[in-house]
Amino acid sequence: MVNGIRFENVEKIFYTPSGEEVHALNGVDLEIEEGDFVCFIGPSGCGKSTLLRILAGLDTPTKGSVYLGGDLVTKPGHDRGLVFQDPNLFPWLNIRDNVAFALKTRHIYKENKAAVGEMIDMVGLTGFEKSYPHQLSGGMCQRAAIARALVGKPKALLLDEPLGALDAFTRMNMQDELLRIHKKEKMTMVMVTHDVDEAVYLANKIVVMSARPAKIEEIINVTLSYPRDRNNSEFISYRSRILKVLDFAGKEKEPEYNI
Ligand SMILES: Nc1ncnc2c1ncn2[C@@H]1O[C@H](COP(=O)(O)OP(=O)(O)OP(=O)(O)O)[C@@H](O)[C@H]1O
Ligand SMILES: [Mg+2]
Repeated sequence: MVNGIRFENVEKIFYTPSGEEVHALNGVDLEIEEGDFVCFIGPSGCGKSTLLRILAGLDTPTKGSVYLGGDLVTKPGHDRGLVFQDPNLFPWLNIRDNVAFALKTRHIYKENKAAVGEMIDMVGLTGFEKSYPHQLSGGMCQRAAIARALVGKPKALLLDEPLGALDAFTRMNMQDELLRIHKKEKMTMVMVTHDVDEAVYLANKIVVMSARPAKIEEIINVTLSYPRDRNNSEFISYRSRILKVLDFAGKEKEPEYNI
């Protein structure tokens, strides 16, 4: 558990501009082992991104603590790489410079120059180093964002719906890319997704969260070997189990509002 992650009784209360409380997280306790591929799944607005942002050090918990490798998380750090739904590349920099950007600002570019090419190669963008973001497809930009997050060799890669904006085929290809990177780099990956199949395809641990204030409803350890077959009966039974926990199995939901 050298570089493992621990959430201890994490609670988060936000305040709206009118001063009302929004209770986002309630008593979240979770252990993530080094090398785990963890997916957070749960209803929209339940607090998944908040939990990931607290781990990233972009937000602070109202109560409780988060540890990475035994160290209390208090602020963002190079030990965590971040990838969001929007690749957020700098449009005025080419792909190589985008990937190298953080190394340059940290003044560690010279000694890590080779890593830039390696990461670009690992995400399959060799030949596009000199291209600008607007010259690449959405999936290619997201690969560049992943290379940028990995180049500083973080202990953990945190991903918030990184494939959410991609078409179905690109998304499935990118899922394989993530598994390949996970296998090669052996790093901890923590990913928020809305997609039940994606979670079962990728994760060895799925954290199913309840509606707000989010708490952990169930932790499902997926013991299927990789590569996983989406049509395999065990795969389908994991999917059914998650849908059941999320209360979507075999029933029509009442609309939340009437038009
Ligand atoms: N800065 C903020 N100020 C006030 N409320 C916030 C803030 N950030 C998040 N919230 C609220 O906290 C709750 C959880 O938000 P969060 O973004 O974590 O949800 P989520 O599970 O990631 O949702 P989605 O699946 O739609 O991305 C929401 O009700 C949201 O409105
Ligand atoms: Mg979110």
